[in-house]
Amino acid sequence: MSAEDEAARLRRLQAALGKIGYGGDYNPEQWPEDVWSEDLELMREAGVDLITLGVFGWAQVEPEPGRYSFDLFDRIIDRLHSAEVQLSLATMTASPPAWLSASHPEMLPQRADGTRLWHGARQSYCPSSPVYRDHAVRLVEQLAARYGEHPALAVWHVGNEYGVHVAECYCDVSALDFRRWLQERYATVDGLNEAWSTDFWSQRYGSFEQVLPPRSAPTFCNPAQQLDFARFSSDAMLACCRAEIEVLRRVTPRVPVTTNFCGLWKPVDYWAWAPHLDLVSVDSYPDPGDPESHIEAAFTYDLLRSLKGGRPWLLMEQAPSAVNWRTRNVVKAPGEMRQGSWQAVARGADAVMFFQWRQSRGGAEKWHSGMVPHVGADSRGFREVKALGAELAAHPQLAGSRVQADVAIVMDWPNWWALELDSHPSVDVTMREALLAHYTPLFEAGVTCDVVPSTGNLSNYRLVVVPNLYLTTADAARNLSDYVHGGGHLVVSCFSGIVDDCDRVHLGGYLGPLRSVVGARVEEWLPLQEHQSLKVQLEGRLGDGACEATVWSELVIPSTAAVVGAFADGHLAGSAALLHHEFGAGTCWYIGTRLDRAGMRQVIEAALAEAGVAPVLADLPAGVEATARVAEDGTRAVFLLNRRPEPVTVGLPDSTTLTLDPRGVAVHYTHPTPEGL
Ligand code: GAL
Repeated sequence: MSAEDEAARLRRLQAALGKIGYGGDYNPEQWPEDVWSEDLELMREAGVDLITLGVFGWAQVEPEPGRYSFDLFDRIIDRLHSAEVQLSLATMTASPPAWLSASHPEMLPQRADGTRLWHGARQSYCPSSPVYRDHAVRLVEQLAARYGEHPALAVWHVGNEYGVHVAECYCDVSALDFRRWLQERYATVDGLNEAWSTDFWSQRYGSFEQVLPPRSAPTFCNPAQQLDFARFSSDAMLACCRAEIEVLRRVTPRVPVTTNFCGLWKPVDYWAWAPHLDLVSVDSYPDPGDPESHIEAAFTYDLLRSLKGGRPWLLMEQAPSAVNWRTRNVVKAPGEMRQGSWQAVARGADAVMFFQWRQSRGGAEKWHSGMVPHVGADSRGFREVKALGAELAAHPQLAGSRVQADVAIVMDWPNWWALELDSHPSVDVTMREALLAHYTPLFEAGVTCDVVPSTGNLSNYRLVVVPNLYLTTADAARNLSDYVHGGGHLVVSCFSGIVDDCDRVHLGGYLGPLRSVVGARVEEWLPLQEHQSLKVQLEGRLGDGACEATVWSELVIPSTAAVVGAFADGHLAGSAALLHHEFGAGTCWYIGTRLDRAGMRQVIEAALAEAGVAPVLADLPAGVEATARVAEDGTRAVFLLNRRPEPVTVGLPDSTTLTLDPRGVAVHYTHPTPEGL
């Protein structure tokens, strides 16, 4: 795919919308047609101009094998077009119809323990199934031919949340596909034996035919096998997605293509997927019952923006209020939906969309909120939806503008998979917790942060933060070291530089290929008990305070690094916990434990100060989130979101002030000074 075609497709989408898109999943097939008229009227009232259509439409448009019936979609698409609503048109392949698995039960997915997952919910297909892929591609050919030229079509929405229910399949068909994938990766079975360390536990294979997915086994499956199976499973789903994209590119080369990622989602390697899409989209369901869930949402949005080098992305789904799938489904308080929506825009989204337009009457998701609730338009929910639509329409200039960041946080999927493998020193070191522990102080400082892979281009950043890079490849280590050597600032945390891409330990002292940039090696680790904590005494450039550490401790042996914090109790009392290392023209901080929130804040703030990173707004009050987007003409929009229970006054760069209500949101514009003035 040439970058030029991709840019042209994006321009087409931006021109079609001309503003921040607004809408949601629309499932008209669930309703009699007289409801459609009301839908269109309410969409107009709410300012809806972009809807996702047909996500679960397969059984409707192909009621029996090879017989297509598009009448319903023809009618609603024309009506939507007359109402000036654009389409994010689904390829309808997310939930195969009953007839497909009834005639081909082998296309149903299988768990590691051999259980088949039958028809009756959704997403019941094995990603490696040629039966599924052939039928899906055939359907996409039909859809592309029928609607590719329709003036309402703004973007193709491929599949839906790949892997949300079935992220891997262990059936015989998958086993064959896994072997093919392994053969491509290792060429010979000896190569595989070497990579998987199969001389341990008599696991050596004589041929690829003997290799299985990591099915339920007496105890821990080979870790390299598990890691490769995670890679393979992401690739198998990507192959499904790419097979559809191939059809769309051929038949409708001018229409952009996206798929909706599923939040912060372990099974799908977003870095590997993003290059195949014109733009990325995400579904985001922060828990209204968790007062900190907006931090993970912010991280997810920063990740989404970073996947395509800072380009705008789409918030494809969020809940208007409660979901139906948590154990207790907390309702969004007045103003919460509005604030969450602006949070996405503030971090680069060019569309704010929901699941779903009209709350279902029947089916598994009838207790999931809708933009139009069961009670109808005379409701708090719809009034808020309508108000937000009007508000977003008043800021058309935001569409296409960019967020800039001086800081990046490193995140790799193979590292996530490897870090959380079984039989590790501690179950408490997990990727999500590690990412948020490092991201939260940046978020609270009002510092915007991109996300980069460990081998990504770091040259645009003043500071790069590396949470638990357990799997460190030689390329990643070189990239990070060169970055620091050339003047960059790095923060690396514990349990990093441990294994190669086959989960084999880097020998000669932990930190392995990161030893020289960190200026130390680690001799052994001492994971902490669940409720255990240790005191860390700060020193040197971190001052003379103290903080608490949990989860992890380790015996760090500094070589050229300076100690800036030491364990104050436990077996390691007196030994190094925190390091600062001058390396080439830059510096590297090392955190040999998991510091509490205050401790993390201290280290990150010291690193930010050293790297010369400024927050979006100086003197930002606690509990206020601040980000900025800059348009092509230089107009800068600063977004302010108040999460405090009381009003708060914020000082702006032009020396004016602005008071935000509880859950308040403000957008403050500054225009570039005309030249010569
Ligand atoms: C998403 C899915 C939607 C809907 C929604 C409910 O995972 O894409 O179809 O099920 O969750 O929150």
